Amino acid sequence: MLNMHRYSYTALAALVAAAAQAKSLADICTVANVQAALPANGTLLGINLIPAAVTANSIYNATTGGGMPMSTASSSSTTYDYCNVTVTYTHSGRGDEVVVKYAFPSPSRFQNRFYVAGGGGFSLSSDATGGLAYDAAGGATSAGYDAFSNSYDQVALYGNGSINWDATYMFSYQALGEMTKIAKPLTRAFYGLDDDAKIYTYYEGCSDGGREGMSQVQRWGEEYDGVIAGAPAFRFAQQQVHHVFSSAVEQTLDYYPLPCELAKIVNATIAACDPLDGRTDGVVSRTDLCKLNFNLNSIIGEPYYCAAENSTSLGFAFSKRGIAQRQAQGSSTSYQPEQNGTVAAEGVAVAQAIYNGLHNSKGQRAYLSWQVASELSDATTEYNSDSDSWELSIPSTGGEYVTKFVQLLDLDNLSDLNNVTYDTLVDWMNTGMIRYMDSLQTTVPDLTPFQSSGGKLLHYHGESDPSIPAASSVHYWQAVRSVMYGHLSPKESRDALEDWYQFYLVPGAAHCGANSLQPGPYPQNNMETMIGWVENGTKPSRLNATVSSGAYGGETQMLCQWPTRPLWRSNSSDFDCVDDDKSIDSWTYEFPAFKLPVY
Ligand SMILES: *[C@@H]1O[C@H](CO)[C@@H](O)[C@H](O)[C@H]1NC(C)=O
Ligand SMILES: *[C@@H]1O[C@H](CO)[C@@H](O)[C@H](O)[C@H]1NC(C)=O
Ligand SMILES: *[C@@H]1O[C@H](CO)[C@@H](O)[C@H](O)[C@H]1NC(C)=O
Ligand SMILES: *[C@@H]1O[C@H](CO)[C@@H](O)[C@H](O)[C@H]1NC(C)=O
Ligand SMILES: *[C@@H]1O[C@H](CO)[C@@H](O)[C@H](O)[C@H]1NC(C)=O
Ligand SMILES: *[C@@H]1O[C@H](CO)[C@@H](O)[C@H](O)[C@H]1NC(C)=O
Ligand SMILES: *[C@@H]1O[C@H](CO)[C@@H](O)[C@H](O)[C@H]1NC(C)=O
Ligand SMILES: *[C@@H]1O[C@H](CO)[C@@H](O)[C@H](O)[C@H]1NC(C)=O
Ligand SMILES: *[C@@H]1O[C@H](CO)[C@@H](O)[C@H](O)[C@H]1NC(C)=O
Ligand SMILES: *[C@@H]1O[C@H](CO)[C@@H](O)[C@H](O)[C@H]1NC(C)=O
Ligand SMILES: *[C@@H]1O[C@H](CO)[C@@H](O)[C@H](O)[C@H]1NC(C)=O
Ligand SMILES: *[C@@H]1O[C@H](CO)[C@@H](O)[C@H](O)[C@H]1NC(C)=O
Repeated sequence: MLNMHRYSYTALAALVAAAAQAKSLADICTVANVQAALPANGTLLGINLIPAAVTANSIYNATTGGGMPMSTASSSSTTYDYCNVTVTYTHSGRGDEVVVKYAFPSPSRFQNRFYVAGGGGFSLSSDATGGLAYDAAGGATSAGYDAFSNSYDQVALYGNGSINWDATYMFSYQALGEMTKIAKPLTRAFYGLDDDAKIYTYYEGCSDGGREGMSQVQRWGEEYDGVIAGAPAFRFAQQQVHHVFSSAVEQTLDYYPLPCELAKIVNATIAACDPLDGRTDGVVSRTDLCKLNFNLNSIIGEPYYCAAENSTSLGFAFSKRGIAQRQAQGSSTSYQPEQNGTVAAEGVAVAQAIYNGLHNSKGQRAYLSWQVASELSDATTEYNSDSDSWELSIPSTGGEYVTKFVQLLDLDNLSDLNNVTYDTLVDWMNTGMIRYMDSLQTTVPDLTPFQSSGGKLLHYHGESDPSIPAASSVHYWQAVRSVMYGHLSPKESRDALEDWYQFYLVPGAAHCGANSLQPGPYPQNNMETMIGWVENGTKPSRLNATVSSGAYGGETQMLCQWPTRPLWRSNSSDFDCVDDDKSIDSWTYEFPAFKLPVY
């Protein structure tokens, strides 16, 4: 029955497409056509479109497109013809101005799809052309605070103590939702399709782009057919304050490890835990087995050596995809002298405390942390050549969150951690969580509107992510499962969830990309998987990923769907996906340091 519907629909779509094909890009890429296609004021409640502000021009042979910057959907030689449109709207009674760019593929290519790409750091995507590689229209929004040139943290405060709530809600979820809501009727009318023609609507993003994707699933669930969310920067308050945690550990233990010492601890952990998954390939595919079976203390006394170097660091390390000029502005070159020594007990104690995660002074857990074998990037100390010593360096990712969002001071970083204890960190998390519960926090666990309108969610996370802990994603999957299917048995709830929400850990992978320390697999064609799932009903059960470097470079690995875990049996060329309750327990957390539930 469903299939018949689908196939007859496909036939209809082909007819409609044939009719549309009769028109060229130049025919429809006109200001008049776009103006006529705008939804009338009053039809999208609260959104008033301004016809006089419409622009439209045809672009030929553009080399742009390709969705997320890390996507391999298109090679650089592929070119696209599209209609470059801008529309402007204002919110009823507010007098603001939101500019949205849309990119419409030429009618001969258009496949009734709309694609939203996520941003990163404190930025929404400013590129509307990401869908062209998938024969999809796409959009990007100014969000009412000129997000094409400002990142949200630059406008989050009007001044000390004064929060810009309009920008906060727009960045958190509203701007993308409105852009997508406008896109559907606009796209149909632009191509001359029927009012009820299906526009398959996709979202893809990683890091804050992953959080933005989750915000759409949580708040605008009915609008999306397929959402791909990588390493989401959600549970925003805990996540951002967690960026200060490594520095707080160093200050509390009064030990400032040399970067080389920490690198050695990570390398030695990887070497020791690599075989635990059944294959020695440089990748810790089972950080849970590492956590359960490996004692970091065994690294004490091992020698490390790093040559002197001038290293350049990006000032804004939260996302590799921040706005370019900010990175240039924040980047700094620092000299590191030769580091030659042996791993100290204090160095291991710092690493162990960081991996254990934040607890308050009563010993109650407040947050989870990076998986053991992840790099300890936030713990990187800074060399002071005057005193020839290594000192605390507070990552501005966490520092800025505390100054701007918790203390409400228009400062870009914390200057020090004087008098800051673990309890202070818990307080900061609690303040941020409550203040931004319905905006930035992005952890609403009831996804019923998305699920019941047929949406599909593909969620993935690098298991050795050193920025956003992989366990953060596991916790959200568990929260959705218990809130939506708590009345079902574990097996039943798992089956019910995987029909529309699938989660994958990517062995060894770092933050939104492969990891130079662990040459493992990374998923390369998630959109193909998603289009097959949404438009063809091909439900994945494993996720296609490719190893890009190292001894196994070129190998395809079909990743295991959570909660199953990979395990190579003796000498097999492929791993099995196994159930391992003890491992799952090691990924499962409660946060009694907070009185509110933390989803
Ligand atoms: C919709 O409302 C806006 C703002 O009030 C106005 O500028 C615009 O002309 C209206 N659109 C139409 C089609 O009347
Ligand atoms: C686009 O490229 C094609 C093939 O190279 C060429 O024939 C065509 O003239 C180009 N169109 C424009 C508008 O430049
Ligand atoms: C798209 O249109 C906008 C508004 O007219 C313009 O500023 C922009 O340069 C155009 N983009 C391209 C690639 O032509
Ligand atoms: C850690 O391993 C990486 C990659 O194998 C290597 O480049 C680096 O020098 C090692 N660092 C230390 C301190 O051993
Ligand atoms: C670092 O930069 C300084 C100044 O440019 C230079 O003198 C020095 O040789 C460099 N050191 C290394 C290890 O590259
Ligand atoms: C590091 O220090 C040890 C002990 O002082 C010394 O034997 C070794 O040669 C040094 N290594 C390098 C590369 O300088
Ligand atoms: C943030 O401030 C601390 C303390 O002044 C400093 O150590 C750190 O380098 C700063 N971080 C950045 C990225 O500027
Ligand atoms: C905001 O507060 C910070 C920290 O107290 C201060 O340095 C800054 O000058 C204040 N800004 C304004 C505009 O008052
Ligand atoms: C830190 O705490 C001490 C003792 O409670 C207090 O005297 C000092 O003023 C505090 N320093 C800061 C920077 O708050
Ligand atoms: C579409 O579904 C058919 C039948 O299940 C399957 O054979 C085919 O591989 C699917 N195609 C895509 C692109 O998913
Ligand atoms: C996995 O992805 C690779 C590279 O994108 C592709 O060539 C291959 O066909 C895919 N395999 C499966 C089983 O989907
Ligand atoms: C695995 O392969 C090696 C080399 O071919 C062989 O010596 C060993 O016995 C095999 N182990 C098992 C458990 O089959």
